[in-house]
Amino acid sequence: MGLRILVAGAGGREHAIVWKLGQSDRVDELICAPGNAGIAAIAECVAISPMDLDALVRLATERRVDLVVVGPEDPLAAGLADRLAAAGIPVAGHSAAATRIESSKAWAKEMMAAAGIPTARAIAVTDRAHGRRAIEEIGQGGPVVVKADGLAAGKGVTVAADRSAADAALGAIMEDRVFGEAGATVVIEEFLDGPEVSILALTDGDAVRVLAPARDHKRAFDGDIGPNTGGMGVFSPTRIVNDALLATIRESILAPAVREMAGRGAPLRGVLFAGLLLTPGGPKVIEFNARFGDPETQVVLPTLTGDLADLLLGVATGTLATAPEPAHDGHAVGVVLASAGYPGPYPTGFPIDGLDDVGGDNVLVFHAGTTRANDGTVVTSGGRVLTVVGRGPDLKTAHDRAYAAAESITFAGRWFRTDIAHRELG
Ligand SMILES: Nc1ncnc2c1ncn2[C@@H]1O[C@H](COP(=O)(O)OP(=O)(O)O)[C@@H](O)[C@H]1O
Ligand SMILES: [Mg+2]
Repeated sequence: MGLRILVAGAGGREHAIVWKLGQSDRVDELICAPGNAGIAAIAECVAISPMDLDALVRLATERRVDLVVVGPEDPLAAGLADRLAAAGIPVAGHSAAATRIESSKAWAKEMMAAAGIPTARAIAVTDRAHGRRAIEEIGQGGPVVVKADGLAAGKGVTVAADRSAADAALGAIMEDRVFGEAGATVVIEEFLDGPEVSILALTDGDAVRVLAPARDHKRAFDGDIGPNTGGMGVFSPTRIVNDALLATIRESILAPAVREMAGRGAPLRGVLFAGLLLTPGGPKVIEFNARFGDPETQVVLPTLTGDLADLLLGVATGTLATAPEPAHDGHAVGVVLASAGYPGPYPTGFPIDGLDDVGGDNVLVFHAGTTRANDGTVVTSGGRVLTVVGRGPDLKTAHDRAYAAAESITFAGRWFRTDIAHRELG
């Protein structure tokens, strides 16, 4: 009578989702497609890509799963949730139409304007001359942000210091098409200053449940310098988002987005992830994402005390209003162990030592770029290899546990930032 759940994806985020679902008394069977070496220890992994929609719908149907949870955004944008819904399979993941909240930044901007959601001023352009005028109008020679409209694997945004840097980014995106068709439209955006926070919420198109806020470290190196990455570390909760601010975020940002999308016939049914900048004038939306954040999920789910399966079934079946508000306990800090060279080109295939010795309830190791070699050893297979998470009653304890574990896991070339969570320690 227990639940059988299929999770689509292969990263640290999916490992955390599968791990948390595995804690539920209601869950009997967990399947992951395609998963990784870490997920394989706690779920059945099936070698199907999240972008192979036909094969995934077939797998979900044949295995009669009670719920599909979709990790990454690409399959959602390609219509995976629509296909599953058409086959009668409950899915926590948005339709392709609703995923436009992430897959088109210009569309999302227009939606936010219509809903009265506070966000950076922006102009969407489709030719270079118009783009240059927008850079002048919004940036006035100073900093301005240039964004490819479509999905660009987190690489489509340039925070430009001045008009010439902005124009160079515009040319690369629009004329050189470095992100392909994702750059046919470009959003020129006002530069906002302030700390950045990530808010993960769940919605079934009507009810909203908000998870603990998190702060990501996007830059490669200590001191927040160097190139942007997929995220080098993260912690949750954050003292810069108190209950009053969270209530404001819910009322002025999350609820209006959910209402506006439903009103447009594209109700949200999955994760609503708001990337926010906390400005002196209040929180403003940098972007919405249509799925769990990576690495935020790796620290938000470990402090969640309730049942994730209940919440996600509520999302999938339109009954989220009956689920209690999520409660969290303690703090979590996540440190990403990366391959030499990341975020540029990097070698892979190195054995990872120390994985079996990190013990205790308060350390969790979520795999991202790992695979099992023929001889059974776990080897590196990606740029971000592991997210090592420490939990504790306070941020310092969580931090110390994460770093002790990070030190003890080694592979050729492994490196990590040494200042994760320092912005709120001491
Ligand atoms: N208007 C803005 N002002 C200041 N920084 C910004 C602005 N927009 C984006 N950024 C920075 O660029 C990063 C990436 O932008 P985002 O819109 O989240 O795109 P994506 O995650 O798709 O690459 C943000 O996390 C933020 O640090
Ligand atoms: Mg982002």
